[in-house]
Amino acid sequence: MTTSTPRVTVITGSAQGIGRRTAELCALRGDALALLDLRSSPIPNGADALMLTGDLSDEGVVLAHKAAILERWGRVDALVNNAGISFITPAELTTAAAFRRVLDVNLTAPFLLCRELGQVMLTQRRGAVVNISSVAGLLAVSDRAAYNASKHGLIGLTRTLAAEWGARGVRVNAVCPGWVKTEMDAADMGSGAYTDADIEGRVPMGRFATPDDIARAVLYLTDEAASPFVNGVTLSVDGGWASDASWESLRVSKR
Ligand SMILES: NC(=O)c1ccc[n+]([C@@H]2O[C@H](COP(=O)([O-])OP(=O)(O)OC[C@H]3O[C@@H](n4cnc5c(N)ncnc54)[C@H](O)[C@@H]3O)[C@@H](O)[C@H]2O)c1
Repeated sequence: MTTSTPRVTVITGSAQGIGRRTAELCALRGDALALLDLRSSPIPNGADALMLTGDLSDEGVVLAHKAAILERWGRVDALVNNAGISFITPAELTTAAAFRRVLDVNLTAPFLLCRELGQVMLTQRRGAVVNISSVAGLLAVSDRAAYNASKHGLIGLTRTLAAEWGARGVRVNAVCPGWVKTEMDAADMGSGAYTDADIEGRVPMGRFATPDDIARAVLYLTDEAASPFVNGVTLSVDGGWASDASWESLRVSKR
């Protein structure tokens, strides 16, 4: 990228949490930003940014956003599919409507954005997609049938697009965060689903992730100079959670 043609980066779920921090770091890197969310939010300092609001599970919204992005910059260099919703309910009590809604937001919306903005990147023969999955895309966490299925599916989508698009210059990767201190976490914890101690005890590194921890992995994967041959990976950013099968007393004995 040169200063005359900044990287155009599209970030979904940019109003708060991981998406917000990713937008801030991309702005510091000099990217032009398309910020997509249900609601608008302050633009990071000094950024060349376009704020686009709407429900990304609606195909018409995705098509309208694509048109607005192309009208503004005429290109797309990176897509970060970060918007997502949590849903914590035992499987036997999960309604079809709730299951479909989680799949719509967490899996169908990223697919639609990949398809539409991927077409642009394929024409350019250059681009990077990062899909924000989860530890719950790799392993089961109880009471999250819809969420786990959506995040496992997102890894399947990532691998498929990496296989289809790699030869045409478009890299597609996934990031799997562990537990991150964001508004989503506050809402989940507020519902009594788990405590700080539950998470801190389970993570080898003994703490939650910060949005910054996750955003730095996204910056790496969207930077062609930093990760030119990285394609189809699921990068865990979880302090070691998914690698650690130790029982709790053994894990804690290492601290
Ligand atoms: N927080 C965690 O512990 C954690 C762990 C693993 C993975 N993740 C994943 O990381 C991503 C970001 O999580 P977060 O904690 O920052 O979440 P968050 O709830 O704090 O922020 C999510 C953002 O997405 C937006 N959004 C939700 N539905 C949307 C829709 N239909 N259309 C457009 N925008 C929509 C929300 O308005 C919000 O701004 C999510 O995909 C989440 O599943 C989070």
